[in-house]
Amino acid sequence: MKKTDHRTVYRKDYRPSSYLISTIHLLFRLSPEKTTVVATTEFYRNAAAGKCNRLSLDGEFLKLIDITMDAASLDDEMFAVSAKDLTLYNPPEKFTLKVTTEINPQSNTALSGLYRSGGNYCSQCEAEGYRRITYSLDRPDVLASFTTRIEADRDECPVMLSNGNLMEQGRLENNRHYTSWHDPHPKPSYLFALVAGDLSSIQDHFLTQSGKEILLQVFVELKNIEKCEFAMASLKKAMRWDEEQYGREYDLDNYMIVAVDDFNMGAMENKGLNIFNSKYVLASPESATDQDYTGIEGVIAHEYFHNWSGNRVTCRDWFQLSLKEGLTVFRDQQFSAAMNSRAVQRIHDVNILRNSQFREDAGPMAHPVRPDSYVEINNFYTVTVYNKGAEVVRMLHTILGKKKFRQGMDLYFCRYDGKAVTCDDFVDAMAEASGLNLEQFKLWYSQSGTPVLEVTEEWNEDKKEYSLKITQKCDPTPGQQDKMPFHIPVEIALLQSQPEHDGGESHLLELRDREQEYIFPGLREKPVLSFLRNFTAPVQVKIAQSREELCFRMAHDNDLFNRWDAAFQLSVQIIRETYDILSREEKPCVNKRYMDAFSICLRDYTDAALTAQALTLPTESYLVQQLEVVEPEVLHRAVNEVKKSLAVHLREDFRKIYTVCKGTGEYSISPLAMGRRSLKNRCLAFLMTPDVADQESIRTCLEQYQRQENMTDVIAALSALSHLDCSEREDAFSDFYNKWRDDSLVVDKWLSLQALSSLPGTLKNVRKLMNHQSFSLENPNKVRSLIGSFCSLNHARFHDHSGDGYKFLAEQVLQLDRINPQIAARLLTPLSSYRRYTPRLKVMMEEELQAIISHEGLSADVYEIVERCLD
Ligand code: BES
Ligand code: ZN
Repeated sequence: MKKTDHRTVYRKDYRPSSYLISTIHLLFRLSPEKTTVVATTEFYRNAAAGKCNRLSLDGEFLKLIDITMDAASLDDEMFAVSAKDLTLYNPPEKFTLKVTTEINPQSNTALSGLYRSGGNYCSQCEAEGYRRITYSLDRPDVLASFTTRIEADRDECPVMLSNGNLMEQGRLENNRHYTSWHDPHPKPSYLFALVAGDLSSIQDHFLTQSGKEILLQVFVELKNIEKCEFAMASLKKAMRWDEEQYGREYDLDNYMIVAVDDFNMGAMENKGLNIFNSKYVLASPESATDQDYTGIEGVIAHEYFHNWSGNRVTCRDWFQLSLKEGLTVFRDQQFSAAMNSRAVQRIHDVNILRNSQFREDAGPMAHPVRPDSYVEINNFYTVTVYNKGAEVVRMLHTILGKKKFRQGMDLYFCRYDGKAVTCDDFVDAMAEASGLNLEQFKLWYSQSGTPVLEVTEEWNEDKKEYSLKITQKCDPTPGQQDKMPFHIPVEIALLQSQPEHDGGESHLLELRDREQEYIFPGLREKPVLSFLRNFTAPVQVKIAQSREELCFRMAHDNDLFNRWDAAFQLSVQIIRETYDILSREEKPCVNKRYMDAFSICLRDYTDAALTAQALTLPTESYLVQQLEVVEPEVLHRAVNEVKKSLAVHLREDFRKIYTVCKGTGEYSISPLAMGRRSLKNRCLAFLMTPDVADQESIRTCLEQYQRQENMTDVIAALSALSHLDCSEREDAFSDFYNKWRDDSLVVDKWLSLQALSSLPGTLKNVRKLMNHQSFSLENPNKVRSLIGSFCSLNHARFHDHSGDGYKFLAEQVLQLDRINPQIAARLLTPLSSYRRYTPRLKVMMEEELQAIISHEGLSADVYEIVERCLD
């Protein structure tokens, strides 16, 4: 494909479809390399759209076998076929089109459309995969009711599934059989799904609040049948929660979840037939970590919640993606907070935002929550659309309050049920239900970039009066030079020296102007400011808080998120200082006050999960954003200096708490038990800090590995060992592989830990692992575990001064682009912030981007990202 073939789509060009569809009847004759699809579609002219004498149906990688209109064959001048569509000339007001096409699921390595995974058939249609199955109007605002008949070999595909209810099944000649499914709810093509193969299932039931019994099924390969219980339990919890919190009931008689090993994303909310990456379904105590368990619970809930926020009310066009994704991420975050620890969940949400979304917003890929244009829509399933989108919904929740927010949601679901709508429609429902004016608020959807709040405090000792001046700024982003001020909810509290006794109640400030001042009279003493509690807005804050104030908040802030954030900000300060010292080639010395604060925090381990969070230092990818010019090697040394100081200074504390948390009885996955494990393993990680780990710590770590109590502890021990250059490391890694070589998801962990090692030989090892029998470029989980982990999470090794990391990435992107463009494009993220790095590295990164873009035949996916980066 030439570069000019990559067309840009603009939001402003949206037009309703000239035709709509009432019903689609699909017939699949499945065969690995030659599947026949017969699509019988009822079209009718859309009265709401302008007249048009041609109709273009989306379709790609299809072989057209036959086409008839109203049962009559079409003359050559009545239609035309290109690589991306089929055009009908002068179609009638209303007609039935029957199209027969042929596709090759076996050769489909892009994993979009109908493909094979582990010998089974499965589909992925969002965003534009349906057009790889048959010709149609493949856009989310065209809703149709689907009937699907599947025919296949009985041995190859004992199970054949599609959306909705099973209507019929029976035997055919030649050892073949069929099933026929009908989905009563009209839906856009992106929610269509088909699964067929040799699958086993577990089943359960759910009784809805109105008394309907739903059949729940989880389908997996037989060898995984023992690993589905947790997914099923999570589904039931999610269904109950959506009834209780949002009054949303399920609307079909059955709900099916299928796990497949080859999947581009985490999971997909196809109506009544969710398809999941097996990583988010399969779990057992021996093979899954605590992180895996919480991931499964969250993703199962997310896809279930889409049934209302996404499926019943869907998107008008793909620019509105955050309408369903931002809202559903917000809902799954609320759910996970309710199931686990509220503060820990919030810390987790905010870490994603700060580590990834703020970086996206500050770089060449910055775009609004509702983008204005795209070349390849798959590139816009981003942290901005998802996670900033969720923050925008959360701000509405904060501004409206719980009750009004719920009224707004009720109005939204009721008014737009069965419709394809926009982000503006959503905010309008919120405005109407609450009586608030949210016009300024809508700027969150249209303006990109992260606002920065500058806060200055003043204390008038005579008047006992405290005042706050807050200014908001937002740097220019691509295509947006000047910004209007945002409507920003900021929760604050003024803490007094005895916070347990007085002060500390929250106030909600609503910023609307570039500069605002607030006065608080009648205080007893100068307060300590607790700003942006619970992170009520996705903004950066600049505030000159002293080390003493941060230490005070770290121990006493009565907002648990902000208590953690004080530790985080303090760590950022200390690492920055160390970075500056090292840059001047002076000898670093970590502040004693800082280490004492951590020691105090560590001794109060009543909330183990929170303490563990406080002990987690900011990532290098966050710190990069705080520096003007980044020297990755110096940054890495700075973080290590701080780690080492803590490890040495607090060694006895770490030992003691490790022992306390260790001896807590039977394995369980309760939040309490998970919290203890996370604190214990944080202590272990500190004890194992390279250069300062002593023999006793190494022995402790090996013992933990050898006990093999549960995967969380095994991985923590292996991870700690991965950074030490010793024979124990080699032995543990080969022992681990030999135990788990047949469990693909565990092998992913093994690959990823090696890619994350801070040892200098890591890239060489990664290259070696690319040839390992367990690795495959065709499996996205393998690619993410090995290549993705190295390039986007191993900051220091990826940015090695030789530039070898960059070369490696460019090579892999080009190879992968021929196999799976979506995955290739996603790998590019770490190169996109090249402008922040020291000139030598910046030039090398830019050279690799140039090398990629000069290649013939790049996919639209990779082309668009590289082009934006170089622009
Ligand atoms: N609809 C998406 C899955 C999707 C996105 C499929 C893009 C194809 C293209 C699904 O609802 C989703 O958002 N999944 C997330 C997980 C979720 C918990 C944020 C994912 O797959 O990462
Ligand atoms: Zn989603």
